[in-house]
Amino acid sequence: MRNEAWRPSVHFTPDRNWINDPNGLVWFDGEYHLFYQHNPFGNDWGHMSWGHAVSNDLLHWHELPVAIAEDERVSIFSGSVVVDEHDTSGLAGPGQTALVAAYTGCLRQPTGGQAQEIAYSTDRGRTFTPYAHNPVVDLGLRDFRDPKVFWHAPTARWVMAVVLPHEHQILFFASTDLKAWRELGRFGPAGEAVGIWECPDLFEVPIEGEDGRLTGERRWLLKVDSFSGHPGGTGAQVFIGHFDGMRFVEDRDAAPAPRWVDHGSDFYAALSWNHLPPSHDRPVWLGWMSNHRYAGKLPTTPWRGAMSLPRELSLRHTSGGLRLVQRPLAALAGLRAEPIDRAPSSLHDERIELPVRGRALELQFSIASLSAGEAGLEVLCGEGQATRVGYDAEAQAVFIDRSRSGTVPEGDAHFAGRRLAPVRPPSPDRPLDLQLFVDAGSVELFADKGLAVITELVLPAAGHDGVAAFASGGRAAFGTTTAWPLARCMP
Ligand code: FRU
Repeated sequence: MRNEAWRPSVHFTPDRNWINDPNGLVWFDGEYHLFYQHNPFGNDWGHMSWGHAVSNDLLHWHELPVAIAEDERVSIFSGSVVVDEHDTSGLAGPGQTALVAAYTGCLRQPTGGQAQEIAYSTDRGRTFTPYAHNPVVDLGLRDFRDPKVFWHAPTARWVMAVVLPHEHQILFFASTDLKAWRELGRFGPAGEAVGIWECPDLFEVPIEGEDGRLTGERRWLLKVDSFSGHPGGTGAQVFIGHFDGMRFVEDRDAAPAPRWVDHGSDFYAALSWNHLPPSHDRPVWLGWMSNHRYAGKLPTTPWRGAMSLPRELSLRHTSGGLRLVQRPLAALAGLRAEPIDRAPSSLHDERIELPVRGRALELQFSIASLSAGEAGLEVLCGEGQATRVGYDAEAQAVFIDRSRSGTVPEGDAHFAGRRLAPVRPPSPDRPLDLQLFVDAGSVELFADKGLAVITELVLPAAGHDGVAAFASGGRAAFGTTTAWPLARCMP
């Protein structure tokens, strides 16, 4: 039976079947590519292959046939795609440009055994041919995966960041032809190193000033996901520093570890787009909007798994050190319908329904002061259900609370809880801004101009679409609250 109650309208989901990590994000010849871990045969993890979708704005996605399928020898685990403009690999032929995918081939017999492999495409990513002499990096290990390859211009060669999950180490390799790789060095263990590490990413990020404008300065960002240890179960941490083409060295002015990318339960395996055109002044990434702890129990059908919204990345100096800033893709503003504004108000231990309804909404509001307790908005409200989003004065943190948000994945004792992200306290001359995207089965919160982010899946009953403002345990002064219904961009 199809239950489309939680089908998002602005987040990518496949028409049917299971997905997890984004893979091979690349821009080429006018198209943004989104490949992803996919089971073409069912709604559970398995038969890992690369599904494929393309877009010309990062918002409207068109799903294409599977691009790289599992074969008798290997399943196709996570990885990346580069544009081999000058045919350094010799795979495309003289004067031709190939897209080259680097991924982990996971041996099917005997089960396990992971090594890095490549495949190339000369038809704009529609079909890929595996390289005849795969694998290209093999250490004879059972767990060794998720290669992120990019062109390192200063040393004029390809660099691969790839992870040893149990050792909590990211290995760097270099190559001039994408086929022969030499190890350069390792990073880790560092930061949070309890759960196994997966899905590294490494790229340069510009620094912005207080006004959000870029200063011209840049640093390198090294991201890795952890299978446990994150407050929400699984999640990503970042390291900020320098990469000279050989080694990654952390900066002393970075905020203290662990620096969680997203304080919610549902942002994993994020990957940044390779080869973005110059119209982008910041890197863009998105993540798998789920959590390995309960992903297989989510009651959606005939698909399971979604991607987060694309996010633009920068760094900002704060009193607590240099920190990652994530903002929803600016082009999302193009999906807004007529806004519904509500004037500033003061609430004291009360809840008022707002004249807004919808399951696909962008909401912006601010809190200028809060004497005690918590204040914010409730979304996806209906009989006995609501997802609370707001600021908690005692914890000095923004939060998303899904203890009354609806259905809970079977057997998951931690789903119905609250995820918090620390922020500076609001004040009348520096209100705290909150920007929220509600999309049928998820809530994504960007607070304090992108310094604190929380992503949570929710499973509200069909038709629950109310919005309310609340303050409990204290008096809150709200700024203007604006809501925009969002135009659907998925089929
Ligand atoms: C992360 C991950 C990767 C692996 C892929 C397999 O979610 O476990 O490490 O390559 O998923 O689907």
